[in-house]
Formats: sequence, C-alpha cells, structure tokens
Amino acid sequence: MTQIYARIVGTGSALPERVLTNADLEKFVDTSDEWIRERTGIRQRHVAAEGETTGDLSTLAAQRALDAAGVKASELDLIVLGTTTPDIIFPSTACLVQHRLGANGCAAFDVNAACSGFVYALGVADKFIRSGQSKKVLVIGAETLTRMVRWEERETCVLFGDGAGAVVLEASSEPGIYATCLHADGGYKELLWNPVGVSVGFKDDEPNHGVRIRMAGREVFKVAVKTLDSLVEETLKAAGMEASQLDWLIPHQANLRIIEATAKRLNMPMEQVIVTVDKHANTSAGSVPLALDFAVRSGKVKRGQNLLLEAFGGGFTWASALLRY
Ligand code: ACO
Repeated sequence: MTQIYARIVGTGSALPERVLTNADLEKFVDTSDEWIRERTGIRQRHVAAEGETTGDLSTLAAQRALDAAGVKASELDLIVLGTTTPDIIFPSTACLVQHRLGANGCAAFDVNAACSGFVYALGVADKFIRSGQSKKVLVIGAETLTRMVRWEERETCVLFGDGAGAVVLEASSEPGIYATCLHADGGYKELLWNPVGVSVGFKDDEPNHGVRIRMAGREVFKVAVKTLDSLVEETLKAAGMEASQLDWLIPHQANLRIIEATAKRLNMPMEQVIVTVDKHANTSAGSVPLALDFAVRSGKVKRGQNLLLEAFGGGFTWASALLRY
C-alpha cells in the first residue's frame, strides 16, 4: 500500500492592525525597551482592536491559506483550530470559522494546548490524513492573548501579542509530514496558567473576573530549554533524519534566548532559524504558523526543504513536526 502523507499546499496569516512598541509600553508600565529586548528579543507586538476576535483573525488567515493553496472552503473535510482564547465558550472557534468560510458540513473542532496548540492541531490533522479519513484539512493556530494580559503587570504584559496563522494540508503520495511528536505534563500546571473558568468559577471581585496569565518566568524558561532539547532529538529519530538534513528551524516564538538554545543543540546557525518574535512577541498557538507563513511569503522557505517546527507552552505541553515543505 502506498504511504499517504499530509502535505502543506498553502499558508496564510493575519495580524491586528495596531502595533504596540516597547517604547509605547514604557509610557504606562515600569519597564524599558532595553530590558525587553535583552531578555526576550521582542521589539513590538500586535494588539487586537476592541471587538476583534480570535475567530476574525483565524478567518482571515484561513482565507489567505485557501487562496494560496487554490482550494475552495467547500472542499475541506476537516478544520482543526488550536487556541486558548476562543471567541466564546461554545460553539468552538473552529465551528465559527467554518461557517464564515462556507465550509459547512465538514468536521470542525478546537484543540487547547496553549502555545503548542497549532503543532498539536497539525499532529491531529496528520493522523486524519494518514488514516485516509480526510483529504483536505485546514489547520489554524490563533490567539487574542492580550485579552488575558493585565497591562500593569510588567512580568507578563511585555511578552504577549495577538495573531493567527493557517495551513491547508492535502493527502499526497509525496512527503509531507514525516513525523509529529506530542507531549504534556499537567504536573507543571501552576508554572504557567490562568486558573479561572466556567467550572471552577470566575472571581467577580477581581478585574476582568480574575482572567489573567500567571507565569513563573524563570522556571518556565529552564524547563522549556531542557524539554525542547530532548524534543528535537526525539523528532529527528522519529523521522529517521540527522540534524544536518534540516533546512529550517521554525520554533515557537516566545523568547529569542530559548530559540538560540534550541538552534545550538541542533548545531544550526541562526541564518537557518525563522525568527519573528521581535515583530510579533509571543502569540501562543499563533506563533509557529505565523512564522511559517512569513518564511514562505518572504521566499526563505522553498518547496522541497525540510522544516522542523516545535512549540512549548502551558500545561506544560510540547510538540513538534518534521516535514518536507
Ligand atoms: N521590565 C523591567 N524589569 C522587569 C520586567 C520588565 N518587563 N519584568 C521583570 N522585571 C524584573 C524583575 O522584577 C526582576 O527584578 P529583581 O532582580 O529586582 O527582582 C528582574 O527583572 C529579573 O526578573 P526575572 O524574571 O528573573 O528575569 P528573566 O531573566 O528570567 O526574564 C522572562 C524573564 C523574560 C519572563 C524569562 O524568564 C522568560 O522568557 N521565561 C520563559 C517564558 C516563556 O518562554 N514563556 C513562553 C512559553 S509558554 C507560552 O508561550 C505561553
């Protein structure tokens, strides 16, 4: 039997219009451009306008990916959307986007794996295609994370931004995604979390009903570097490849120092690493597909090249995909 691969046939992305620079932040929070750049590599972030939602950004990114692929929304048989900031509690943002695109009838669901959401969604979509269940799949990673940010908390507010990215996958006899690796360890939940919700309840005496990102930055940093080291080794092994066969590393865009540590582990020069954290900051599930779309549209990533995608986030969750573009 011929092996079926999931192949990326189109990419797209969307960012809110409003840009908030480090200098803008200096005006209302006790921080500095120098501190933010030196610790994280971030120079600016995009912030959703009032009323602009994860679903809005997703729909735009998805339409651009469909256009690039030359695929009609009505041809899709599955939509998987990674997000931790859905528009509403239910229906899922995937259902909202499906209807807006005109893909009514196909399966559609969200995946909540925080910053690893897109790579998780890609892993799920890959399995649907490999099994023969789906032929054309839309995978989206999107967030409006600034909705969870308290602008007076300098430890977190400087780190995050909003945005969305999408890919269209098609079943093909040509590679394609070679391997995906998905992991989680809920034992780390309190290092990076937002511990309010429908079932636990909200905090009516706190601003924004207690919705707020809490992060033990230094601890997250240490675990992220160590975990990503073993993740990239595992992924190369699963795909039967050597690091020297990789053309590009497309990492989660949280912190330039974490990205540099992973590149070093792979012995890859930074010229082979896609970096957008300076422009977008950490857009959680949006970060990897945004970076991928920028790399494709700028002409850096070309057909036939091998890409290693990886992400790490709240849960903790961590995930990777090694694919031929
Ligand atoms: N501006 C100025 N000073 C600040 C700021 C700020 N925005 N934030 C913290 N500081 C101060 C602290 O108060 C502290 O001051 P002190 O020494 O007087 O106590 C000092 O800077 C150092 O703080 P640390 O937290 O130790 O700084 P660190 O070098 O660890 O950098 C950072 C913090 C950038 C958050 C880093 O730990 C990090 O990137 N961690 C990983 C976070 C991450 O990657 N999250 C993403 C994965 S999960 C996801 O994507 C949702």
